[in-house]
Amino acid sequence: MRSKVSVIGAGNVGATCAFRIAEGGYADVVLVDIVEGLPQGKGLDMLESCPIIGSSVNIIGTNSYEETAGSDIVVITSGIPRKPGMSRDDLVATNSNIVKQVTENVVKHSPDCIIIVVCNPLDAMTQMALHVSKFPRTRVFGQSGVLDSARFRTFIAQELNVSIEDVFTCVLGGHGDTMVPVTRLCTVGGVPISDLLPKEKIDRMVERTVKGGAEIVALLKTGSAFYAPGVASAQMVEAIIMDKKKILPCATLLEGEYGINGIVAGVPAKLGSKGIEQVIELKLTDDELVALKKSADAVKGLLDVMGI
Ligand code: NAI
Ligand code: 2OP
Repeated sequence: MRSKVSVIGAGNVGATCAFRIAEGGYADVVLVDIVEGLPQGKGLDMLESCPIIGSSVNIIGTNSYEETAGSDIVVITSGIPRKPGMSRDDLVATNSNIVKQVTENVVKHSPDCIIIVVCNPLDAMTQMALHVSKFPRTRVFGQSGVLDSARFRTFIAQELNVSIEDVFTCVLGGHGDTMVPVTRLCTVGGVPISDLLPKEKIDRMVERTVKGGAEIVALLKTGSAFYAPGVASAQMVEAIIMDKKKILPCATLLEGEYGINGIVAGVPAKLGSKGIEQVIELKLTDDELVALKKSADAVKGLLDVMGI
C-alpha cells in the first residue's frame, strides 16, 4: 500500500509541496483547505498532470478532515503569509489559532502521523503543534533550515560559479532575524568557504540568507516565497517515507542539547521512517552557542505571547 500524505493549506506553499510529492510518486496526497473548491480544483489539476509526468499516485482535494484519516505524514502550511513590511512574528496571533485548530483535527483523524509544520512564525507554530498534539518531538517538527541552507548554498554557488551540488551549508536556530548561519562549517567540495572567499563577501551572503524571505516578499508584494519552501518541505516528507536516514536541518524541540531545554530551534537531525530518529549535536564555539541561545530566547518570547 502506498503511503499517504496530507497537506493542510492549498495555497502557494501547500500546493507546491503537494505537487512535488505527487511528482515523486511515493505517496498519495490529500490537499485540505477551508476555501470551497480550491483544494478540489488544485487536486484535480495535479491529478490530470500525472499521466504526463508519469506518476501513478492519487491526489484529492477536500474541505474536510475525513479524507485525511490514517495519514502517515501531515504537512501544515495553512496560515497567512507576510506582506511587505511585516515580520514573520507579526503573524503569530492569526496563525497560532489556525495551527491549534488544524492540529486538533489532524490528531483526531491521524493519531499516529508525523506532523511537519511550515507556517510562520515557524518555530513558535511548531511548538504550538507539539503542545496541542501532545506527540513526542520525534513526530512533530518544522521546516525552515532546509530552505535557509538552500538559500545560502545558492548564493555561495553563484559567487564562486560552482555547482550547487558541491556546496554544503550549515544554518541553525530560528527561521527569522536570529537565524545562525555557521560559516565555519560551510564548505565547497570539502574546502571551508573561508579559504575561498573574503570575510566581507561571506558576511554579505550571511546577511542575504537571514533576510532571504524578506527579499522575496519585497519582490512579490502580495505574498511570500513558495517554490523553494514547497520543495524543501517535500524533501523532508521524502526522507521520512523512503526511510532515508537523511541529515537535514529541522526545527525540533531541544531537550538539553546545545544547553537548551523545552524550546524549538533549528538543528541537524536524522530523518527516517520514525520521524526525527536522532538530534545531531554539533561542537559549536562559544560565540555560535550564544547566537543559538539568543535565537531560542526569541522563540521563548513568542511562547509567552501565545500562553503556552
Ligand atoms: P497562502 O495564503 O498562499 O496559503 C495559505 C492557505 O491556507 C490558504 O489557501 C488559506 O485558505 C489556507 N487556510 C487558512 N486557514 C486555514 C485553515 N484553518 N484550515 C485550512 N486551510 C487554511 O500562503 P503560503 O504562501 O502558502 O504560506 C503559508 C504559510 O507558510 C504562511 O504562514 C507563510 O508565512 C509560511 N511560510 C513558511 C516558510 C518556511 O520556510 N517555514 C516559507 C514560506 C512560507
Ligand atoms: C520565507 O523564508 C516567508 O518564511 C518565509 O520565505
